[in-house]
Amino acid sequence: MHVRAHRSLGTLLAGLFLNACSPSSQPPTTMLTQTPFGTTADGEAVTMYTLTRAGGMEVRLLNYGGIITSLKVPDRNGRLEDVVLGFDTLAPYLERHPYFGALIGRYGNRIAGGQFTLDGTTYTLAQNDGPNHLHGGLKGFDRVVWQAEPFEEPGRVGVVLTYTSPDGEEGYPGTLRAKVTYTLTDDDELIVDYEATTDKATPVNLTQHTYFNLAGHGSGDVLDHELTIHADHYLPVDSTLIPTGERRPVAGTPFDFRRPTPIGARIEADDPQLHWGPGGYDHTFVLNRTGDGLEPAARVYEPTSGRVLEVRTTEPGVQFYSGNFLDGSLVGKGGAVYARHAGFCLETQHFPNSPNQPDFPSTILRPGETYTSRTVFAFSVQD
Ligand code: BGC
Repeated sequence: MHVRAHRSLGTLLAGLFLNACSPSSQPPTTMLTQTPFGTTADGEAVTMYTLTRAGGMEVRLLNYGGIITSLKVPDRNGRLEDVVLGFDTLAPYLERHPYFGALIGRYGNRIAGGQFTLDGTTYTLAQNDGPNHLHGGLKGFDRVVWQAEPFEEPGRVGVVLTYTSPDGEEGYPGTLRAKVTYTLTDDDELIVDYEATTDKATPVNLTQHTYFNLAGHGSGDVLDHELTIHADHYLPVDSTLIPTGERRPVAGTPFDFRRPTPIGARIEADDPQLHWGPGGYDHTFVLNRTGDGLEPAARVYEPTSGRVLEVRTTEPGVQFYSGNFLDGSLVGKGGAVYARHAGFCLETQHFPNSPNQPDFPSTILRPGETYTSRTVFAFSVQD
């Protein structure tokens, strides 16, 4: 767990002042702008925040669902490309879509049968994925408008998003106050900090659901991306993608990504775990952790562009999803058609179905406790 110091208004103002008139007259390395991005069906205004590092990355995100709509990263020749799947306008984000770029809550991933029992009470949730509950339900944190407070400090810019989920929302107990901070640093890192408190015990498992394609979001499939996952074990699942409870060694299986391996190298292998639904990876990897701090989870290298994404997290697991359910029916930014495996997700999180699995690390947050979690997406290039 990561404990983050709160920034006071004074610190924020000092940061703005320093950025604007630093004694060395250095131009600011990072910049933030905001533009209107339409309104929801309820008439709530949606704003797009653009975070930029001079000569480096640019991130665009919305207060609607905390959605990252665009993320431009230089390749080995300095050429910027948008490396995340998404849409050009708000309308398709308001329709059903596979959680492109969104914040997920209260519970990222699945809860079996849409039910769990906590302190003797059984709670019923929407079964919005076959028999199971997925990604917080019908109107999860990906479909609400968050309060947004942008901030600028020397060398970093970002947005603090807050959302209060009422007691009983989507069937979950307790009023949950969630806060997610996106920070772009002048090291080309996007940091996502999560925090939450509650007034009744409730499950919480927040994550970020960006689909990456480091060659460019419209460039085809991600099967040649070389993936490393720092995990000796993964969680096998049943046909509805609920973990069986076993922690299975990756050694000798197509789930062994301990050395850089193309995503597609074994995706068609004759392993029943790869054959659910349309097939491919959609599993939680149990990260090899040494403590509870920020530790490496995964690394992805795209050979043609040289772009590298490294993911570090305080979470015990990462869901590696190889975009199996994308089927070409969605037309994204600039007319790009997102076919099967057009993007991959690395969703840092606790394990699926933990409220029904006493052997998994607990996801229950109780009154008086603070949920904290941090994930860093760091970009660089390699020859
Ligand atoms: C899940 C997939 C699901 C996708 C989009 C991922 O987190 O693991 O099974 O299809 O989200 O909903």
